Amino acid sequence: MSLKKSILDLRRRKEKVQKGGGDKAIEKQVAMGKLTARERIQALCDKDSFTEYDLFVEHEARDFGMDKKELHGDGVIIGTGTIYGSPVCLFAQDFTVAGGSLGLMHARKITKIMDHALKMRVPLIGINDSGGARIQEGVNSLAGYGEIFYRNTLASGVIPQISVILGPCAGGAVYSPALTDFVFVVDNISKMFITGPSVIKTVLGEDISMEDLGGARVHAETTGNAHFFARSEQECFDQIKKLITFIPWNNETKARAFPPKPPKFKGKIEDLIPSDPRQPYDIRDIIRAVVDDSDFFEIQELWAPNMVIGFGRLNGETVGFVANQPLVLAGVLDVDSSDKAARFIRFCDAFNIPIVTFEDMPGYLPGVDQEHAGVIRHGAKVLYAYSEATVPKITVILRKAYGGGYIAMNSRHLGADFMMAWPTAEIAVMGPEGAANIIFKKEIESADDPDEMRKKKVQEYKEKFANPYVAAAKGYIDAVIEPSETRKLLLHAIEVSANKGVSRPKKKHGIPPF
Ligand code: HXC
Repeated sequence: MSLKKSILDLRRRKEKVQKGGGDKAIEKQVAMGKLTARERIQALCDKDSFTEYDLFVEHEARDFGMDKKELHGDGVIIGTGTIYGSPVCLFAQDFTVAGGSLGLMHARKITKIMDHALKMRVPLIGINDSGGARIQEGVNSLAGYGEIFYRNTLASGVIPQISVILGPCAGGAVYSPALTDFVFVVDNISKMFITGPSVIKTVLGEDISMEDLGGARVHAETTGNAHFFARSEQECFDQIKKLITFIPWNNETKARAFPPKPPKFKGKIEDLIPSDPRQPYDIRDIIRAVVDDSDFFEIQELWAPNMVIGFGRLNGETVGFVANQPLVLAGVLDVDSSDKAARFIRFCDAFNIPIVTFEDMPGYLPGVDQEHAGVIRHGAKVLYAYSEATVPKITVILRKAYGGGYIAMNSRHLGADFMMAWPTAEIAVMGPEGAANIIFKKEIESADDPDEMRKKKVQEYKEKFANPYVAAAKGYIDAVIEPSETRKLLLHAIEVSANKGVSRPKKKHGIPPF
């Protein structure tokens, strides 16, 4: 064949395979409001940056009529591209080809790009749109998933791993995302479940819709499996691109630094907090008041909202924020908010991102529900994650820091590098009312006017402990600062800790309270 003919032949072959499952299946995909796998890649990567691998890979299955089926690319597209100039490896499952189901060759393509991402030390992005293990390929599909999970685990903490759920994802198609760092979902499009409605109907005789079982909102609000919720695929891709700007390529580099920008917030930071310590306020306003350009990129916004986590920049450098949210449940630590904070702290620690903690909370949430849901085990994750982290760790106590909450929220005792407190901080074993009722019980009960005595004792306790000065006198707090100094001191702390180095006892790995 002449060169010209062979080039034409290549183009013809490419065109055929790039059609995925064909016009009818693509029509069905579009009718569901979904982009095709190729459109998704184009929407995510910088223009013309995507380079595809293994376009011509075909399945080798023979059973259940598979020998007569041509599955273009075996239902998955893999390759490399860039996002705002940062290299990424990615795969996108093509639901138009056998429901994006995962057979042996499909899995081999995914593991190839995962190996590549790990070798090149660049982030991996997986766009999942798959009915899970390809039923006709039996144990080969299960083997394929196992090999993906194994690689997800090896890559964990080495390169950032991002999963995008853009279709009905079942079985293995949700367990791989669960092993990754960030999961993105889109309203009405994303579904995640281990077993689909048809299996539930067969096994349990119950009718449930895919949406109610595992729709985007279920995972963004209830299970916490999803980290980002979008209303459209385009919004989802914009979120992923933004995330990529905040995180490094791997665990041996730092996130890209941006030109420093002052916050857009021009008011007085102390005016953001009500003068009555019992009144709530939105902690995100405080974060926006200190970060560059007032740009705070929140993660898991809809789940466990009593804890706020996310990225911002200080002097152009990425910082992870962990903050109690007084607007919700007074910002208490409970089972879900503990999990949320602990995992994020570990991500920041693995990827060289300093952590800033804003504290205003009355402690762990009491009650039978929480105790039985395992608040001891889950709450311990926060203690573990902060103690384990060796990145710069800075805490600002704004108001309440009571009991276990004081210790847990990156206290000096867990290795904080800089502890600052506003003059409004209250650091005590518990709130003054509860404390006075316990330690002055007899005096209050035997008083002529118990209410008056209680008030007096509460005030006495407040004066003694509900302030930052007892902790500051012991050196547990490094500085009591004016709120207006917060950004300046955070910038300074980040600058001073740029070369922080700590050593830990040698071990294979710790055993966190999973
Ligand atoms: C083979 C599959 C498939 C699968 C879908 N298809 N899932 N083929 N193996 N797992 C095919 C369908 O036969 C159909 O082919 C096409 O994909 C589109 O599927 P539909 O059912 O028409 O689409 P929809 O109504 O949107 O339903 C999507 C779905 C449903 C909810 C994903 O297909 C479904 O329930 N699939 C099975 C899910 C599942 O139980 N997977 C196994 C999980 S076990 P045609 O040719 O008709 O277009 C697993 C093991 C790992 O993954 C566990 C790890 C711990």
